[in-house]
Amino acid sequence: MEKTAVVVVPTYNESATIGTLISDLENRIFPACTWNCAILVVDGASPDGTADVVRQLQRQYSSLHLLAEEKKEGLGAAYFKGFRYADEQLGAQAVIEFDGDLQHPPEAIWDLLAALDQGADLVLGSRKVKGGSYPGRWDPFRLFLSQVGGWVARLLLFFPMKAFWTVTDATTGLKATRVDERFRALNFDEFKSRGFGYKIEMLFKLVQWGARVAEVPLKFQTREAGESKMTGQTPLEIFQIAFQLRWEHKGTRRFLKFGLVGLTGYLVNAVLLEVFARSSWVAHLAAHFTFLEKYGLLGFLALTSGWAAALSVEGSIVNNFLWNNFWTFHKDKARNLLSLIRKFLGFNLTSLGSVFIQFVTIGVSTHLLGNTTGVRQITLVLTIGLLVLPYNWVMYNKVVWRRKHHKAGTGRTIS
Ligand code: GDD
Ligand code: MN
Repeated sequence: MEKTAVVVVPTYNESATIGTLISDLENRIFPACTWNCAILVVDGASPDGTADVVRQLQRQYSSLHLLAEEKKEGLGAAYFKGFRYADEQLGAQAVIEFDGDLQHPPEAIWDLLAALDQGADLVLGSRKVKGGSYPGRWDPFRLFLSQVGGWVARLLLFFPMKAFWTVTDATTGLKATRVDERFRALNFDEFKSRGFGYKIEMLFKLVQWGARVAEVPLKFQTREAGESKMTGQTPLEIFQIAFQLRWEHKGTRRFLKFGLVGLTGYLVNAVLLEVFARSSWVAHLAAHFTFLEKYGLLGFLALTSGWAAALSVEGSIVNNFLWNNFWTFHKDKARNLLSLIRKFLGFNLTSLGSVFIQFVTIGVSTHLLGNTTGVRQITLVLTIGLLVLPYNWVMYNKVVWRRKHHKAGTGRTIS
């Protein structure tokens, strides 16, 4: 059985172009498709008679469908109705989002379907990849807004995740989406936006749920008739939704908490360093190791500043462990005293490197430049920035919270 793709075309006052688009799709584009294609126009009660043009053409084309809305409710709302109808009434295996004003070149449909055939679940028509472009006669302000907005949306939604690199045009209006379990799990009633913002919302969710994304070039044409339905509010809406989506994203919350915990850890580290550097008890401790001075490098163990640094790192380790265990990773926190101790020792083991690193850097710098607050604190900041952060990053990723990679097909787990 041939697979069915439904080209969903929302319209509001597009009577000048919709007829040309429909004829072109039916006569030139669809016959050359590997899929069985149909058109579904979702008209927002256009006062210019767009729906009547479609009704006329329905006599000629059996694969042309019309959903007439009672009133204009926004671009997202029109698509939600169209998607449901395409899935439930027309048996679509894929839905294509397509503008009704001839700004999207109809040939792009071939590229979208080819990408689906190659295994993509979500195909974006991108103006930013090679072969894609913006309208030649676009006013510079609209171009500027679109470029900046595009980058902001891309950064907000995906940086630094993988999709940041694979999705170059997050707000594009040309897309093909496979109708699968993932698509059907989208709950449009709960979407934040029923306007243009629904696009990034749908994209964000599908990407989070693991949809395979591909991009094909889109040569976005100049609008020759009618006018754009975007308003001054639209870029703002898109920005706001991108921000909200990312704010609610679990991994991002974890990352922010993690950064905040790191900051408290630094403060504890810095304060304790000063306390211990002034403590006679630490000086006493260091004095026990003066006999090592005759063994060259080991003599460092007699440095009070080195011990002060090492002990203050331990203080920040305790601080970070408690915050991370009860806040950042509270879902996986230790449930009883024994496992708390076990977790703490494990955390300490991986943090031992930082203790050693700071012992050496602060020991050496105070030895060479003088044991003053300035030398200690500047060395501390440099050490954390240049050595401890990269060290922790590697330890957390490769040791503490290492992920196992599954290689498709082989059934083997490689780590
Ligand atoms: N039914 C319905 N209801 N249709 C609508 C509505 C609505 O509220 N708003 C817009 N449309 C239809 C238009 O008639 C047109 O066919 C299509 O949706 C796209 O709307 P345009 O107003 O032409 O959008 P645009 O050209 O300014 O913006 C394009 O580029 C954006 C990215 O820069 C579109 O492709 C957007 O989807 C895209 O985000
Ligand atoms: Mn348009």
